[in-house]
Amino acid sequence: MPSLATHISSVPPSGIRRIYELAAELDGVISLGIGEPDLPVAPHILAAGSDAWLRDDTNYTANGGIPPLREAIVAKLARENSLDVDVEQVWVTTGATGALHLAMELMLAAGDEILIPDPGYTTFTMSARLIDAVPVSYALRAENGFLPDVADLERIVTSRTRVLLINSPSNPLGTVLDEGKLTELLAFAQRHDLWVLSDEVYEYFTYGPRHTSIASLDEDDRVFSAFSLSKTYALTGARVGYLVTPPGLARTMRTVQETTISCVNSPAQAAAVAAIEGDHSHVAEAREHYRGNLEAACALLDERGIRYLRPHGAFYLWVDMQHVAGGDVAGWAERFLVHERVAVAPGSAFGRSGEGWIRICVASTLADLLEGLSRLPAPGVPDGA
Ligand SMILES: Cc1ncc(COP(=O)(O)O)c(C=O)c1O
Repeated sequence: MPSLATHISSVPPSGIRRIYELAAELDGVISLGIGEPDLPVAPHILAAGSDAWLRDDTNYTANGGIPPLREAIVAKLARENSLDVDVEQVWVTTGATGALHLAMELMLAAGDEILIPDPGYTTFTMSARLIDAVPVSYALRAENGFLPDVADLERIVTSRTRVLLINSPSNPLGTVLDEGKLTELLAFAQRHDLWVLSDEVYEYFTYGPRHTSIASLDEDDRVFSAFSLSKTYALTGARVGYLVTPPGLARTMRTVQETTISCVNSPAQAAAVAAIEGDHSHVAEAREHYRGNLEAACALLDERGIRYLRPHGAFYLWVDMQHVAGGDVAGWAERFLVHERVAVAPGSAFGRSGEGWIRICVASTLADLLEGLSRLPAPGVPDGA
């Protein structure tokens, strides 16, 4: 067999999938590992998708998406994100995964560097490697409240750096970047003439601080923003997201989108229009469900003396397991899964800074969540895993 392109072997596997696959082989597992909403999709969204199938609405669409969807997104961006964009700046993609990859393809040539949060969502590194770019981690450290520190960024930026990637609300941390921090990050990007790639897939799930889109602060067209319908509407398998670009790139975008996916499947786009334009009470209910679960989970961890980072967004808890991880939290998470039948994501799957920590997804029933957390070993108590 001939060999694959040399850089392909540098794409790291996802450390979360490993736990997922192991969990699938075991019975009676409480699943707190995968970042998937546990609530059903609202009926009006399902109806719009299935009506499109039944109408045989199954042809190719324009590369950027069907006009009603792009228009619905433009209106949503004005309403929710304080972004005033033209329809030609909105590109419907295969989830935010597609949006992030598309943006990286546009901005990065082989060998170019992209600054990526550590801990950060696994695909950021994988996507950069897939196009032979170089992901350079910036650590989100406990002593800084796990927020990006511009002094750290200044130390690692080089003449090859092209992009600063940010993610707020953060997976896996649940941190939210406020306007002051976003302004600092934008100024850093301006100083070094970098693009900013902003992942905002958890925009609807904040608990206290409001979500701010960094593009609303952008004065010189350097921000690409990736959004998704996956988490907001529990539509993970429909694969609909969108990339919002600076103005003037439509011709290039059309070509790149044509080459990679042509377009997103049309029934899913019809469902997306209904999701964005329809009643949002189910989104508010989902937010309250996650907020309630997070509060109950934090109370239990406080009671048990287990340290964690108090989240302000997304639906994750970042929990300190250094008292049992022994420098290999991935190995510990596997043993914990086998012995205690609870799947959690090892922090090391999100980057080197995640060693010793785990990510708990609270998008589950409250009973499962509390039972799973009650099986975590507390400091000072012998660990069976
Ligand atoms: C931060 C972040 N970005 C992007 C994604 C990908 O989402 P999508 O389903 O829209 O591709 C996820 C999914 O977990 C995520 O957590």
